[in-house]
Amino acid sequence: MKIKVISYSFTGNNEALAAEFAKAIGAEHLRITEPKKRTAGKIVRENLFNRDPKINLSGDEISVDDFAIFVSPFWFGKIASPLRAYLNLLKSIPSKYGFLSLCVGYDNPETYQKFKIELGQMLGRAPEFVILKRIADLLPPGQELSQKLLTEYRVNQEDLKMLVASIIEELGDTPPWFGNS
Ligand SMILES: Cc1cc2nc3c(=O)[nH]c(=O)nc-3n(C[C@H](O)[C@H](O)[C@H](O)COP(=O)(O)O)c2cc1C
Repeated sequence: MKIKVISYSFTGNNEALAAEFAKAIGAEHLRITEPKKRTAGKIVRENLFNRDPKINLSGDEISVDDFAIFVSPFWFGKIASPLRAYLNLLKSIPSKYGFLSLCVGYDNPETYQKFKIELGQMLGRAPEFVILKRIADLLPPGQELSQKLLTEYRVNQEDLKMLVASIIEELGDTPPWFGNS
């Protein structure tokens, strides 16, 4: 059994979180990349038409006795299209899995509650966990929060340490991959 962290990141936050988390739990880290440079216009078009981009992974990276942890931002309340493309390649997931995201927040909390169910429907198996971390919680209290400030925020080493510790605590003494063999 291998724990595999599979991440996509556009501006680096989820990449940094995935790398730090993989290191902390002794997992392999695979990155979803794209052959073509991404633009803001492409994000909007893909979101409108639910179009999947081409990516570097094939979907054969996960075996039945692995535990997969997907890490990705949200775009307009939906999972970022390069991770969606990867999940569509898998069709039904052969292993247990969880999902992590470092995102701006919950403008509409229902979007994110439905996400766990959607993920289960998409992959034919419910996730063992969905953990969403909010950038707003990394900023000092009292700071005025604008959408621009939150979207442009880039995590630092201290944030990453705190985020990884809180994710590990949330997963508990016997994390969901414990006993996978
Ligand atoms: C086009 C675009 C759309 C976004 N939509 C959302 C969203 O719906 N919900 C959210 O919480 N964050 C949203 N964000 C903010 C990102 O999730 C946040 O900046 C995240 O930390 C970026 O991760 P990355 O650096 O790994 O790409 C959006 C960012 C971009 C660029």
